Amino acid sequence: MTTKKIIDMKGKEPIVMLTAYDYPTAKIASESGVDIILVGDSLGNVVLGYDSTIPVTMEEMLMHIKAVRRGASDAFIVGDMPFLSYEVSIEKAVENAGLMLKAGANAVKLEGGEEYVETIKQIIRAGIPVMGHLGFTPQSVNLLGGHRVQGKTPESREKLLRDAKALEKAGCFAIVLELVVESVAKEITESVGIPTIGIGAGRFCDGQVLVFHDVVGLSQMNLKFAKSYANTYEVMLNAVKKYREEVKSKLFPEQTHVFE
Ligand code: KIV
Repeated sequence: MTTKKIIDMKGKEPIVMLTAYDYPTAKIASESGVDIILVGDSLGNVVLGYDSTIPVTMEEMLMHIKAVRRGASDAFIVGDMPFLSYEVSIEKAVENAGLMLKAGANAVKLEGGEEYVETIKQIIRAGIPVMGHLGFTPQSVNLLGGHRVQGKTPESREKLLRDAKALEKAGCFAIVLELVVESVAKEITESVGIPTIGIGAGRFCDGQVLVFHDVVGLSQMNLKFAKSYANTYEVMLNAVKKYREEVKSKLFPEQTHVFE
């Protein structure tokens, strides 16, 4: 996969993006044939147990990008730029984006619109493809007043449209739309020449992205916009319970597990 192929998929074939955070989830995502693997800063919530994405550091992201690359050697991997890795200065943003590529990512994603155009241009100038992220941007949860659906007012709709066009002009190869009113996500999708990839943004985006742990039912979040295709939490819990019971009742190990 290349950024050119991703752009060419717009309007032809839905793009499937899935997060992965470590060797096994990357291996599963890659084997399933998804188009893009995102090492999201949702890492903070679903893997590290933080209550938001704000505490996630560059060091944590880099370690997980390396593990994902080891599990998915041929995949197109996008590394999510964590809070404060790109806001402080353009120099720091370019350097941190470069570190993500050195760790194994093919591209980076960052949250924000018009205000990040110059940062995005400079990251791209350094040879690093950038995916935008608009709508509900979790790193700004404190400014947005919680997990709120975006695009509900005429001002919010206009700002989203302006931001999407600015990100396209800056050179982004795709834009994630998170928690956006479906009709506004559709309008954005029709107004830009690059693919939109939605999460809680309805049916008319060029692609969809979900968090690995939600898809396999490990996070037990029951989110309105997500779908679990398995109940992995229950499967894992039952397996571990069974192991515990068998050790307690001396059913494990059996003769077949023993070195004579
Ligand atoms: O961190 C993440 O997983 C994301 C997706 C929700 C798009 O940014």
